[in-house]
Amino acid sequence: MVDEDFLLEAARFIGIAGLALFVLSGIGGALMASRTVQIINVKWLRGKLFNYHRLGTLIGFALMILHPIPMLYAPQSTGGMNISHIFIPFTAPKQSLTTGLGVIAFYVLLIVAISSIFIKFIKREWWRFLHYGTYIVIFLGLAHGLFISGEFMEEEVFDFDEPEKVILLIFTVLALAIPIWRLFLAKKIINKTETT
Ligand code: HEM
Repeated sequence: MVDEDFLLEAARFIGIAGLALFVLSGIGGALMASRTVQIINVKWLRGKLFNYHRLGTLIGFALMILHPIPMLYAPQSTGGMNISHIFIPFTAPKQSLTTGLGVIAFYVLLIVAISSIFIKFIKREWWRFLHYGTYIVIFLGLAHGLFISGEFMEEEVFDFDEPEKVILLIFTVLALAIPIWRLFLAKKIINKTETT
């Protein structure tokens, strides 16, 4: 019988690793979409960023499929859950609200992933619209990870004594930087290089 603490720690680790890959891939995506990657001209990124972006999101997606699986084997009294808790948002026996945010993030992720797999069959504008769902996945995933209690204590909201929460906070800052960069700074840099 595998130790329940090990199962929950494994789920946490997989969740954090998956989220890290999404944030990094999101930065890569924003660098490509804003064409900043051509301007910064980094040798190891040149011509390869698209492949890194795709690989990062694919591995992240696989990790997110794995993320809730260890919880199926942990007792419900310690934070474990059954199949229906994983598929039906806000029904988990503990931390139902914060867990539900993760379930919704996963459904949005499914839409983004499926639309990217079938990109050739979808109108470009539709695909782009659906791809903006990545921001929803990252922010719901971050809210879910930040607010869920490691000890499954209902009254606990934030516990920054836990290194996992500090790591997630750093991702939050990085994730907020993506749309800011994309909307303002990248545009400014491109306009400047076009006028010179
Ligand atoms: C089916 C959907 C999901 C379920 C049922 C679920 C459930 C959970 C639970 C119960 C925990 C707490 C584990 C523990 O502390 O022992 C957790 C942690 C975490 N989840 Fe999810 N999750 C789901 C989807 C997602 C998605 C899509 C993301 C990211 C995009 C995500 C990111 C995280 C992160 C980063 C943690 C770690 C929090 C920490 O270590 O403090 N989860 N998840």
